[in-house]
Amino acid sequence: MFSSLLALVAIVPAFVNAQAAIYAQCGGIGWTGATTCVSGASCQVLNSYYSQCLPGTATTTVGTTTVGTTTVGTTTTTTTVGTTTKTTGTSSAPTGSQTPAAGNPFTGFNVFVPPFYASEVTAAAANITDPTTKAAALEVLNIPTFTWFDQVAKVPDLGTYLAAASAQGKSSGTPSLFQMVVYDLPDRDCAAAASNGEFTIADNGQANYFNYIDQIVAQITPFPDVRVVAVIEPDSLANLVTNLNVAECAAAQTTYLACVTYAIQQLNTLGNVYSYLDAGHAGWLGWPANLQPAANLFTSLYKSAGSPSFVRGLATNVANYNALVAASPDPITAGNPNYDELLYIEALSPLLTGFPAHFIVDQGRSGVQNIRNAWGDWCNVKGAGFGTRPTSNTGYTAIDAIVWVKPGGECDGTSNSSAPRYDYHCSLSDADQPSPQAGTWFQEYFTTLVTAANPPL
Ligand SMILES: *[C@@H]1O[C@H](CO)[C@@H](O)[C@H](O)[C@H]1NC(C)=O
Ligand SMILES: *[C@@H]1O[C@H](CO)[C@@H](O)[C@H](O)[C@H]1NC(C)=O
Repeated sequence: MFSSLLALVAIVPAFVNAQAAIYAQCGGIGWTGATTCVSGASCQVLNSYYSQCLPGTATTTVGTTTVGTTTVGTTTTTTTVGTTTKTTGTSSAPTGSQTPAAGNPFTGFNVFVPPFYASEVTAAAANITDPTTKAAALEVLNIPTFTWFDQVAKVPDLGTYLAAASAQGKSSGTPSLFQMVVYDLPDRDCAAAASNGEFTIADNGQANYFNYIDQIVAQITPFPDVRVVAVIEPDSLANLVTNLNVAECAAAQTTYLACVTYAIQQLNTLGNVYSYLDAGHAGWLGWPANLQPAANLFTSLYKSAGSPSFVRGLATNVANYNALVAASPDPITAGNPNYDELLYIEALSPLLTGFPAHFIVDQGRSGVQNIRNAWGDWCNVKGAGFGTRPTSNTGYTAIDAIVWVKPGGECDGTSNSSAPRYDYHCSLSDADQPSPQAGTWFQEYFTTLVTAANPPL
């Protein structure tokens, strides 16, 4: 250990003296690498977290934006994020110059059914003996579900999927829309344990995350004909609204904001990626006391990022169980007038001044209501069924689409208290058990989702 530290000390000056390559990072909060650029480029501040070597020279700083005043208990934290810059010269701006299509981005596209989840469902159906249940399970193969990129190692698959989506669009005459979840923040899932990710802030997490985003951008670039809808980082911003009392969330705040900012700015340069920031759900940010702080955070992050024009709105209820419109309030929602996703969306929308108030709502596991002991129970809730089918014909102008974001059958978290990433929610009495690790296949749970589907499959 000591000798490797000495070796590191010996290496450091070489990095300090190096000049960053064109388009490489050259500064920002937490940056320790080269701060000058190779000849022909200059280091320009894109935001407080990221300076980049761009061709061209002059940079004018025009202001600093405050992102989010978050009240947690009696403590108020104000975070300043991002310095807005205007760049002159020949450099390419990070926010892109293409104009999004007017209206609902789902309109006019066929939503692509992703092959990875299809392979899981095919294998699962093969293991079901009851013919009625098996046939119902196979129906899931026709329903588009989001693909989660929760590890950088999965990113190369994106290009493979997009090539298939592109080919399908060309042969059918209707272009394809690919649905993905961007989900690899360092110190991910800061308020829980089950979905902790591969990157840590302490170990170069921010740079690793920027690289993850860069790889996603590189995979999408060859396929401008495929429209991409991206849900950005489930739970991350919601955790910054309500969970700054959790030490790991407080410690992650600056990095989360930097990473989400980088993600939406870089995706915005592509011109075919419509982003929806994750906005928790009615039982989280939908509580009256959380609405305004949530709206402030979304709005100020968006403005600080330069109001990227392809940020389309917010995604709600991702991987949760709430109804879009509940027939009657579930007793566990008592005290919250916003007891379903529509009420939450209607309460939040007017507070989003300067942020696009469009929504997509996950209904993948919302088919059965009144199955939880408490609203905060999220792990493999027993008795859940697949819900309303994805559609862009939602009946509400604020809601672009009902979607299935969580791939039903992929586990939320392990119930084994000795296992890594164990979270107690996964062994509550309303959690289906025994359950394997988050993201792995949970056959028994899938079968229940199929048999309890509402409407039936
Ligand atoms: C399918 O069934 C076989 C035999 O019962 C079992 O070994 C395997 O784990 C099952 N696969 C899944 C995905 O449940
Ligand atoms: C629970 O996890 C521990 C630690 O990974 C493992 O040794 C044990 O076999 C697991 N128990 C079950 C029932 O899977």
